[in-house]
Amino acid sequence: MPPESSRGGHPPLRLGVNLDHVATLRQVRGTEYPDILEAARLCLEAGAHGITIHLREDRRHIQDADVFRLKAEVDAPLNLEMANAPEIVNIALQVRPDEVCLVPERRQELTTEGGLDAAGQEDALAPTVRTLADAGIQVSLFVEADARQLEAAARLGAPMVELHTGAYCDAASDQAADAELGRLLQGARRAHALGLQVNAGHGLHTGNLPGVLRVPHLDTLNIGHSLVARAVFVGLAEAVREMLVAMAAYRGGEP
Ligand code: PXP
Repeated sequence: MPPESSRGGHPPLRLGVNLDHVATLRQVRGTEYPDILEAARLCLEAGAHGITIHLREDRRHIQDADVFRLKAEVDAPLNLEMANAPEIVNIALQVRPDEVCLVPERRQELTTEGGLDAAGQEDALAPTVRTLADAGIQVSLFVEADARQLEAAARLGAPMVELHTGAYCDAASDQAADAELGRLLQGARRAHALGLQVNAGHGLHTGNLPGVLRVPHLDTLNIGHSLVARAVFVGLAEAVREMLVAMAAYRGGEP
């Protein structure tokens, strides 16, 4: 059972578990295990609210078949992270995940670096956001917590954004972390005022979570790497439970 919310009448802060690195483990040896469906079921039984996967153009971890199987066989919200690339958009239109989170993607990167330039790419993003929305998919944009990007997301008609927490999580000093946290706080307020659902993710673990829990208006956190890493020691279900216990300290929005 997931821990009860400590937010009075508010729903609990939701956890989307990113399973990319379960697939990474499989792909590095070309095996059929670990099974992504089993991983998803364990996370959901442990209280996770949804499953997130990133179908990269280079297919380094999640494969097309994973996306179709998760959608067909797992009874929970599926969030597909993807680049604004025609081939991947076509797959999303076939699969119809509950949610698509548009992210920037570069072949050489270790993981997603930086947020989507929604403001600079508004013309290129507009038809994709519209096509996905017309197919009944909720569209999220993974952006930096900057007013310019958030305003572009609102203009594009995306119902939600995911604030990039990477710079906060990777900050080299307490001072830099405080500055990044301030940016996240302001960004969340701005996004909320624009009517956007506010999600957040990237680089989160139970050690850096308390700072992010000061950010108002959060709906969902998408967390992957640290959960799969923790699972090596305690198992995936326990790693998810630990995270949910830590997230239960969230107090929600501002008056
Ligand atoms: N949110 C987005 C948009 C991402 O691209 C990623 C990484 O795939 C995550 C969340 C999860 O980040 P992490 O694996 O560092 O928890």
